[in-house]
Amino acid sequence: MSRAAIVCGLGAWVPPTVVTNHELAERLETSDEWIRTRTGIEQRHVIKPGEATSDLAVEAGRRALESARAGGEDFVDVDLVVLATSTPDHPCPATAPDVAQRLGLGGVPAFDVAAVCTGFVYALAVAASMLTAGTARQALVIGADAFSTILDPHDRTTRAIFGDGAGAMVLRAGEADEPGALLGFDLGSDGTGAGMITVRAGGSRQRSTGTPASEGDQWFSMEGRAVFTEAVLNMSKSAQSLADQVGWSAAGADRVVAHQANVRILRAVGEQLGLSAEQIVINLDRVGNTVAGSIPLALADAVASGGLRPGHRVLLTGFGGGLTWGSAALMWPELTVIPPNAPTVWKEPV
Ligand code: UT7
Repeated sequence: MSRAAIVCGLGAWVPPTVVTNHELAERLETSDEWIRTRTGIEQRHVIKPGEATSDLAVEAGRRALESARAGGEDFVDVDLVVLATSTPDHPCPATAPDVAQRLGLGGVPAFDVAAVCTGFVYALAVAASMLTAGTARQALVIGADAFSTILDPHDRTTRAIFGDGAGAMVLRAGEADEPGALLGFDLGSDGTGAGMITVRAGGSRQRSTGTPASEGDQWFSMEGRAVFTEAVLNMSKSAQSLADQVGWSAAGADRVVAHQANVRILRAVGEQLGLSAEQIVINLDRVGNTVAGSIPLALADAVASGGLRPGHRVLLTGFGGGLTWGSAALMWPELTVIPPNAPTVWKEPV
């Protein structure tokens, strides 16, 4: 049997401050009705001034470690930390070493992976490869973003969608026939679409000119409609091609946990893959689009609410800036999950 990375812990965290659609509508020209019908989102969580992505990552990481310990892992001896984020605490250095140190894991290799909303799947693939290669034995993989810090306060579209949050998994080296084994990955990118999801200023290109950013260039911007189309196309294609690779049909997966950006995207992916509503995990109604935190947060919510159970065949699929996309497949293991604060009650998708 071939070596594989095994999921043995899961945790998630959203900051306690909630911003409802109604609250957004008091400040911006939008409405609860528009946001709910166009995106499926009802509220999102945001950090307080002075907080940062690492604070979310530490909370989620701590819960994932507790989950691994509670699940009877004899020893939790993480020797690798990979943090997926596109809102690091600072442009330099990476945020992962600080997170590792605050979790009491200082000294282990720790680095960031930046693939925006696909970040968690990319980070999972990197960590799994290091585990199967023998470079590490146990990994903590975290997806965390605080997009509220880079949104244009006047942009009603992005403010309606994005929220802050984090999720994390503990992986260990094992065999491919064990429950929780990551069975395969499908990853891709298309740099021709780099401008569709971007923060124009603040990087080396703008800094090398020595000129201040043009007004607005410091904020996140997104070509919503074009991204919508690309997201449906690439998540469907990637999930399908991974299902073929691991010998499942996409429709044969018990649960598809896709990046939570817009319920209309999830429905369209479901249609492309021939999924029933029950197969598609949805938690964006309460957290919005949490970028790299999205997939592990959705997993933790689905486990906590009983929608995802041991033995389920699970396809994860993400799409985001870069452009990037990626999918992972696994048989869901028996896990003691520390529920995210205020988990969603499982309900039939709308
Ligand atoms: O996370 C990584 C990837 N990101 C995504 O997957 C996001 C993909 N895109 C989307 O989810 C959707 O495109 C959005 C939610 C961003 C926008 O929804 P849409 O249905 O594509 O709207 P639109 O951009 O085509 O805009 C339709 C109208 C426009 O008004 P006009 O030009 O028709 O008069 C917008 O100005 O809706 C307007 N609009 C709003 N109205 C009220 C845009 N945002 C809002 C808003 N409230 N918040």
